[in-house]
Amino acid sequence: MSLKSKFNDYVQSLETYIMFQIKQKQMELTEELIKKDRKPIALSMGAPVDMVPNFAIETLKSCLDDPSIHTYSTPKGETYFLEAVSRRMKKRFGVDIDPKKEVFSLIGSKEGIANLIRELINPATVEKDKDIIMCPNPGYASYKEMLKVSGGLYWGIKMTPENNYMPNLEDELKEILSKGYKEEKIKALIINYPNNPLGKTCTLDYMQKCVDFCKKHNIILISDNAYCDLYFDENDKPHSVLECEGAKDIAVEFYSFSKPYAMTGWRLGWACGCEEIISMLGKLKSTIDTGIFKALQLTGAKLLDSKEGDEYIENANKKFSAKIQNFVNGLKSLGYDVEMPKAAFYLWVKIPERYNGDSKKFADDLLEKSGIVLVPGEAFGTLGKGYVRISVVASDENLNTIIERMKLDGFQY
Ligand SMILES: Cc1ncc(COP(=O)(O)O)c(C=O)c1O
Repeated sequence: MSLKSKFNDYVQSLETYIMFQIKQKQMELTEELIKKDRKPIALSMGAPVDMVPNFAIETLKSCLDDPSIHTYSTPKGETYFLEAVSRRMKKRFGVDIDPKKEVFSLIGSKEGIANLIRELINPATVEKDKDIIMCPNPGYASYKEMLKVSGGLYWGIKMTPENNYMPNLEDELKEILSKGYKEEKIKALIINYPNNPLGKTCTLDYMQKCVDFCKKHNIILISDNAYCDLYFDENDKPHSVLECEGAKDIAVEFYSFSKPYAMTGWRLGWACGCEEIISMLGKLKSTIDTGIFKALQLTGAKLLDSKEGDEYIENANKKFSAKIQNFVNGLKSLGYDVEMPKAAFYLWVKIPERYNGDSKKFADDLLEKSGIVLVPGEAFGTLGKGYVRISVVASDENLNTIIERMKLDGFQY
């Protein structure tokens, strides 16, 4: 007897998250691939593989002997963590954040975004009754899944070269209404600059347009800033939406320690911005989790304030820049039309014409023949058709091996 029917309608429609499906397939094929000298090299997960800052390890170790560090923390975050976030926001973006009212600690930014979405959506099964969140297409695959499990409707806003990856929001709204959906059903707009999977950033002027649009239509603005510290031009750093006029009336922004410090396993992040949104997020979180291990918060706080943390980011960005450029050159030598991203460590690559836009087939072939693991573009939305996302996180040696394998195994463009 299956127990599936006991689960709610939304959860029943969930698939295992795409990254774990890919990992599973990679594991199944590993033995066979090793036999033909094609040991899998993963370029699928957005997870830097470098060691975390030594400063973080030493700080963490040094606080573990304090008995008070091991007890429950407050869900909102310890004062030292909230204050360090506030200082960080001021130093990095010139933004004033009240540590008492405008910040909340998170078990990674994914958790925070998922919980906020859950709070915004009144679950519905009939499509036209569903609450809507406008999300980037292509965009982070989790947004769509989070909406599915919350009983909401994902509306993809078109990120294209024609609009320079800054979609016209009034046009998008018109399109939503023209399909018979009601404006009052639109709960939020999610923006994500630097964008996963495109590696694109946007101007501060565009962020202001997003704020103005959301204020005009009474929509919550969710800015996912997980990649703000991964950039390759010191003079053109990604912005915070909270730099915009009026943003704090309507916007909340999500931050992560995962990407800038290669601390994906630590599960540490924060949300900051509009006091009302932070307070509502806090109410839910205080009922379902009991905060983050204080040792992690203390280490995170010290890292945000430290010279070592800033140097780590600077060095990591230099390393990523050289690594990605080298890989871009390798792909170009195989005939691919690919450009260096402005930020984040992703390459968005058009697949060869002979695949007729079938990126899943291209990704499957690369894995099965050459042990190269990447993600088909469709995983990020309908506009991902014909593309694959390459997460350039492997070692330089492995990246060179990939170019070699592609050459030998017939994967020229
Ligand atoms: C756009 C984006 N947002 C959020 C996250 C989640 O990061 P974390 O939960 O590790 O903070 C990711 C992870 O890949 C991401 O790509």
